[in-house]
Amino acid sequence: MALKTTGAQAVSLVEVGPRDGLQNEKTPIATAHKVELCQRLLAAGIARLEAAAFVSPKWVPQMADGADVLAGLKSQRGASVSLSALVPNLKGMESAIEAGVQEVVVFTAASEAFTQKNINCSIADSIERFKPVIELARQHHIHVRGSISCALGCPYEGDVPVNRAADVARRLADVGVQEFDVADTIGVGTAGQTRAVFEAVAKAVPVDRIAGHFHDTYGQALANILAALQVGVRTFHSSVAGLGGCPYAKGATGNVATEDVVYMLQGMGYDTGIDLNALVDAGEWVSTTVLGRPYASRAGRALWTRRQG
Ligand code: HMG
Ligand code: MG
Repeated sequence: MALKTTGAQAVSLVEVGPRDGLQNEKTPIATAHKVELCQRLLAAGIARLEAAAFVSPKWVPQMADGADVLAGLKSQRGASVSLSALVPNLKGMESAIEAGVQEVVVFTAASEAFTQKNINCSIADSIERFKPVIELARQHHIHVRGSISCALGCPYEGDVPVNRAADVARRLADVGVQEFDVADTIGVGTAGQTRAVFEAVAKAVPVDRIAGHFHDTYGQALANILAALQVGVRTFHSSVAGLGGCPYAKGATGNVATEDVVYMLQGMGYDTGIDLNALVDAGEWVSTTVLGRPYASRAGRALWTRRQG
């Protein structure tokens, strides 16, 4: 996939709810519900959707049905939609190709301890492992993103030096990664720190190839998005209804809610291409009907309540 270049007033959102959002759910979620969630998100105008993870089902059982989820989305594929999946190794990459994704995500971290816990190897070994994955992606014209977890803090190591994510981004660029997902896995970062880390990464790789991936554990994600916007970043990840967390980052809550991000960006005059009302319907539906819990997006809940009333 050619990376969509965004104009001055456009921000591209990658919806990660069906993957990052659902991977942490303890109770198995029916494949049909996962497919319906993706369909509702695509109908709301989401153009880039992280739908699955082809990881070991022993490590993350909830993601074991990725092939079936993507099969359920066959009729939704088209030039304007890009479906992606996480792939930790060649086995995952082969499954992703078979499933027909347009983007894959290889994932490592700015912290050695987290990399070890999450993918059972060192940062250097993970990048070595990515080389054949990226070569296969190139042969199949599949866009490769590289996720850098713990860029703003680590659940095992604590503070992470400002330049660590930039170093990893440079090493990922050297092996052919095309887009760099800089992640605050445990949502501890604050705006000044975010600015410093993203400025450092933007010196290592082109700023239009950087995406911000913020979990909202400490309620800082919107402020951090604003800080990254000020650095020139125009791609952000978010999760409908703020679902999610990482099974290997205890206590970390979900990604920033897509509804909250769209509400903020629309208010600032950015074009996201997303129909906020349809997104709110999807967020309310997945929270209450599928997961049986209150709808947690602040903007989503406010808009939903106003509509009822
Ligand atoms: P390992 O145990 O070292 O690997 O795990 P292994 O090669 O020994 O394989 C173990 C078993 O898994 C074998 O099965 C393999 O066949 C199987 P067995 O022989 O025992 O029956 N296996 C696979 N099965 C299906 N698909 C595969 C695959 N690979 C191996 N691709 C491994 C290493 C990387 C596989 C494992 O650590 C793993 O799957 N980790 C993934 C953890 C994960 O998904 N974490 C959450 C996603 S990352 C995240 O959320 C962060 C992010 O959102 C950004 C942020 O917020 O920071 C992206
Ligand atoms: Mg994440």
